[in-house]
Amino acid sequence: MKKTLLLGMLLTGSLIGSALATTVAEVKKKGTLVLGTDPQFQPFEFTNDKGEIVGFDIDIARAIAKDLGVKLEIQNVGFGQLMPGSVTSKRVDMAISGITITDERAKIVSFSKPYFTSAQVFIAKNGNPRKLGWPLNSLKGRTIGVQSNTTGFYFADENLKKLGATLKVYDDFASGLSDVQNGRIDAIVGDKPTVDYLKKARAGQFVQAGKDLVSEDYGIAFAKNSDLAQAANRTLDRLKKSGEYQKLIEKWIVAK
Ligand code: ARG
Repeated sequence: MKKTLLLGMLLTGSLIGSALATTVAEVKKKGTLVLGTDPQFQPFEFTNDKGEIVGFDIDIARAIAKDLGVKLEIQNVGFGQLMPGSVTSKRVDMAISGITITDERAKIVSFSKPYFTSAQVFIAKNGNPRKLGWPLNSLKGRTIGVQSNTTGFYFADENLKKLGATLKVYDDFASGLSDVQNGRIDAIVGDKPTVDYLKKARAGQFVQAGKDLVSEDYGIAFAKNSDLAQAANRTLDRLKKSGEYQKLIEKWIVAK
């Protein structure tokens, strides 16, 4: 009995020990870089027909792991559980998930340099039947969808509510999109690359309504002050210099 307990404690101890490794030296020692991502964000991270998590972000994560000389392990983590959550409690070594760099988030995680410029936009049904646009001075009587814990949510909460909009919060983006489709909500606030992707993948179903709401940059998130952020920056520089970054843009963003 005592032995089992001790063994259990030792096992848990060593497991936690390795899970808490979030420095370059520790990642190299365990031979694995653990990535947390929410694969519901085409074309940055999503599950393909074979059940594999793939996308632009995943290829960048693979390049970082390769430069460190370690394997990449991918963990599926809900967007709202990344920060605070898996990254801050060091259950993962990094998160790449189309994460917008914000001052609030930068208080609790360390970001790589920006690797992609994006924006928040209104995504409406094709043809924009409710004539939604931006800028608007009134959103009275409109219902706007947002995904919880995203910058789309923060923007809407701060700016759209006071213009009279009612917000409908979704945990997963796909449910919000189907509500746009069936007319239950007027539009959903989402990232611009999503609408560009939908225009091709689900042609004739969705459009961007009006101008960009706010522009933003994506960054890779690490535990505060982890030297892995600098390692990621070196990989980003290498990918940009060698032309591989541009190839990834063409593979995932332009072609898809
Ligand atoms: N860019 C937005 C944010 O940082 C949304 C990202 C959603 N990403 C995802 N993998 N679901 O809040």
